Amino acid sequence: MWITLTGFMGSGKSSVARHLGTELGLPVVDLDACIAAQAGLSIAEIFAEQGEAAFRRLELEQLRRLDVDEDLILDPGGGLVETLEAAEVLRRRGPVFWLDVRWDQVRSRLRGLEADRRPLVARLGWPGVEELYRRRLVRYARSADFRLGSVEAGPEDTARQVRLKLNAWQALRTAEGGVR
Ligand code: S3P
Repeated sequence: MWITLTGFMGSGKSSVARHLGTELGLPVVDLDACIAAQAGLSIAEIFAEQGEAAFRRLELEQLRRLDVDEDLILDPGGGLVETLEAAEVLRRRGPVFWLDVRWDQVRSRLRGLEADRRPLVARLGWPGVEELYRRRLVRYARSADFRLGSVEAGPEDTARQVRLKLNAWQALRTAEGGVR
């Protein structure tokens, strides 16, 4: 089963994934890191040299390469949900948790994060990134099983909220006796 964390850039997916991985004893797959390793290029270089559409294809390709039967925490880039096929794959593999962070927090977090993984911020500028954030909300909402709306509390607390919802999700699956 894959436990996926989605959400906009700067929503804290990677920190929460690390905590969850440690607490649940599961490997964490950073999809952007897999893409960069496979391409031998940084995310910014892929965007600059091949364009965003090529990056989205690489994202889907890497997603398809992951072991379907492995139990893992998946930490994808915030734009993966733009690819509907990818969003469908996530839903089939296990529960999807959306870290729904307010725009003002995303913006202040993004200022302090490394630009190399976030070429869209440089390309779009803040008004463009805000527009993208608002446009994507519906995608996150549609592709998630759970929304975590109070993630200001920090990664430990968010990871705890994920575990609580995960327990409920697993209990429900067991009661239903089926696998999605
Ligand atoms: C992107 C998010 C980034 C990275 C790339 C594109 C996006 O990942 O995949 O820069 O389209 O939102 P993070 O969400 O981990 O920053």
